[in-house]
Amino acid sequence: MRKKIVAGNWKMNKTFEEAQALVSEVVNMVQDEVNNQAEVVLCPPFPFLSSVSKALGGNSNIHLGAQNCHQKESGAYTGEVSAAMLKSVGVEYVILGHSERRQYFNEDNQLLETKVKAALQAGLIPIFCIGESLEQREQDLTFDVIETQLKEGLFHVTNEEFARVVIAYEPIWAIGTGKTATSQQAQEVHAFIREQIARHYDAEAAANTTILYGGSANPGNARELFSQPDIDGGLIGGASLKSRDFTDIIKSF
Ligand code: G3H
Repeated sequence: MRKKIVAGNWKMNKTFEEAQALVSEVVNMVQDEVNNQAEVVLCPPFPFLSSVSKALGGNSNIHLGAQNCHQKESGAYTGEVSAAMLKSVGVEYVILGHSERRQYFNEDNQLLETKVKAALQAGLIPIFCIGESLEQREQDLTFDVIETQLKEGLFHVTNEEFARVVIAYEPIWAIGTGKTATSQQAQEVHAFIREQIARHYDAEAAANTTILYGGSANPGNARELFSQPDIDGGLIGGASLKSRDFTDIIKSF
C-alpha cells in the first residue's frame, strides 16, 4: 500500500520567529486533529531546518524536508548545501526539480539526475517534481514533457532506489496562480505517470509509488483532488504557510 503524504513547501518565506510560530501551530493542530490520514512533511528554508527539527521533537507523523541540495558530496562549492549535511540535521526528504529551480536556476534533467543520485546515496527521499507550462499544455505536449522529465531526470535509478522516490506533478500554470488543475486533469497526468513507471520498472513499482499533486491546492479543493485514484497527496506551497489551511488539507483524505 503506498503512502499518502502532504508536504508543505515554505519556499523563501518566513523569518526565524515566524517559522518557529508556524511549526508549533502545525505540531499542535496535527496532534489534536489529525488521525494519521497522511504522513506530513515540512520543508522550511535551510537556515530553519535544525530549529524546525527540534520543534518537531521526534513527532512520528511529521517529517522534515529540504527544498534543494547540491549534487556533490562536499568541497569548494560556496553557498551550496550537500545531501549529507541535510541528513545530518534530521532531514528525511528533499524536493528536487521544482519548476522554480528549473526556471530561475537553470536546473535541467541532466543536473537533476545527479542530484537524485546524491540524495539517494545520502539516504534522503527525493520528492521529484515534474510538470508542464501553460504553453506546452496548449500545444498538447503535456505527456511528452512529463515523459522526458521522468526518463532523463529520474528513471536512471535502480529498482531498489526507485522504491524510495516520491513524485510530485506540478503543472507550472497552476503554481501560485490560484488556478488549480481540475481533478480530472490532474488524475489524467497522474495515471500517465504511473503507466510510465510500470513501463520502465514494473507494475509493483507503479502501484507503490506515491504521486503528489501541487499547484494552488487549498482546503477547498484538496478533498476532490485527493479522492482521485492516482493522487496520493499534495505538495503545498502558499497554503502551507497558514497552519489552519495546511492542517485542513492534511485532513482532506
Ligand atoms: O511546491 C509547491 C508548489 O509549487 C505549489 O505552490 O500551492 O503555492 O501553488 P502553490
